[in-house]
Amino acid sequence: MAAIDSFNFYLPTRIVFGCGTVERIGTLSRSLGKRALIVTGRQSTKKSGLLERVMDLLRRSGITSVVFDDIVPNPLSTSIDEGARVLLENDCDFVIGLGGGSPIDSAKLIALVASDGGNCWDYTESGAARKPESAFPVVAVPTTHGTGTEADPFAVVTNPETKEKIGVGFDEIFPAISIVDPETMLTLSPEQTAATGMDAFYHAIESYLNSNHQPTSDLLALEAIGLINNYLPIAYEHPKDLEARTALAWASTAAGICETLSGCIANHSLEHPVSAYYNATHGAGLCATGPSLLEYIRPHVMERLGEVARVMGAPSREINIDELSRMAITLLRRLQKSVSLDITLSDLGVEPSMLPTLAEDAMRTMGGLVTVTPGNLQTIDLLKIYRMSI
Ligand SMILES: [Fe+2]
Repeated sequence: MAAIDSFNFYLPTRIVFGCGTVERIGTLSRSLGKRALIVTGRQSTKKSGLLERVMDLLRRSGITSVVFDDIVPNPLSTSIDEGARVLLENDCDFVIGLGGGSPIDSAKLIALVASDGGNCWDYTESGAARKPESAFPVVAVPTTHGTGTEADPFAVVTNPETKEKIGVGFDEIFPAISIVDPETMLTLSPEQTAATGMDAFYHAIESYLNSNHQPTSDLLALEAIGLINNYLPIAYEHPKDLEARTALAWASTAAGICETLSGCIANHSLEHPVSAYYNATHGAGLCATGPSLLEYIRPHVMERLGEVARVMGAPSREINIDELSRMAITLLRRLQKSVSLDITLSDLGVEPSMLPTLAEDAMRTMGGLVTVTPGNLQTIDLLKIYRMSI
C-alpha cells in the first residue's frame, strides 16, 4: 500500500440521495429564502414534467420561483450574464440548477456573478482571473449521472467569441444542497446515458491517477469505476432499470467528490477544445482521447491501472503488473464499445490540421490539469495523444 501523504478534505454540500428525494425540495430549500431562480435547459425538464413538479413543490413550501431556461449544452458566458441580470431583477434569494451539467454549472455561475458583480468571463483564467468573495446559495438537482457537479465547486463555461471552454473552481459555488434522485434519470436516452456515464467514469479514473490523489477519493474512485463498468451497459440497454440508474447516480456523485478532493487530469484538458470547437458531447470527447492518454502515461501509473483492472473484473490469477495495466485499457475500450463510444476524434469531426491548435488551447486553458498528470506532459505530448486518437 502506498504511503499516505498530507491532504485536504473540504466538502460543504448537504447531499440528499435516493429515489423520491426530489419531493423534499421545498422543505429542504426553505432555509435559503422565499424566491428561487430555477435555471434549466430548454426542453427536457419541461417534457418530463419535472420543472412543473418542482415549481409546485416549492409553492407548497411558500417559495415562489422564476424560470431562466436560456441554457444550451456547453453553456455560454453571455447566457450566464443574462441569468444574473434576471436573478437581480426578480429579487431572488437563491438559485436552483435543474437538469444536466449545463444548467447546474450555469446556476452556480449565475449565483456568483449576481452576487459578486462583473461579467462571467472575468472569473476565468483567460479573462481577469477574478476571485469571488460571495455567491447566492445554490440547490443542485441533477437529472443525469455524469458531471458530478452536485458534489464539486466547479463550473465550465464557453466564450462564444473566442471558442474557449474553461473550467473554474471556487469554494463559494459548492451547492448548499444537492438532491440526487435516480428516478429523475429514467428518461435519459441511451446516448445521454452512455455519454454522461462515461464522463463520470473519467472523473473517477482521472482522480485516481492524479498525482494529488488522496485516500477518500481513492476509495470512491474505485467504487465508481466498478459500478459504472457493471451498470452502464445495463442502463444503456434498459433505460428504465432503476437499480442500474441508482448505481450510476451514486457513482456519478462519488466521482464528483473525487473531482473535488483530487481532481481530473489531462483527459479533461484534451477534451475541452474538442467540444469548444466542434460542439462535441463532453462524454464522447473524453472517450475519443481517454484510452490514448492512458496508453501514453501507462509507464508512470502501472500500479494504479492494475487496481483499475481488478475492479473492472480482471482475472484474479497471478498476472504481472505490466499485463494488468494493459488489461485496464483493454477493459476500458470494451466498456466504451458496449455503449457505442469506441470512437475517434475523426468521428467527432476533428480535422488533423486542427490538432496543433487544439493542443495549444488545451495547455493554455486547462494546463493546471496537465501539471498534475503523471509523466510531466508538455504541449508536444498533448499533440501526440491527439494524433493517437484521430
Ligand atoms: Fe467531465
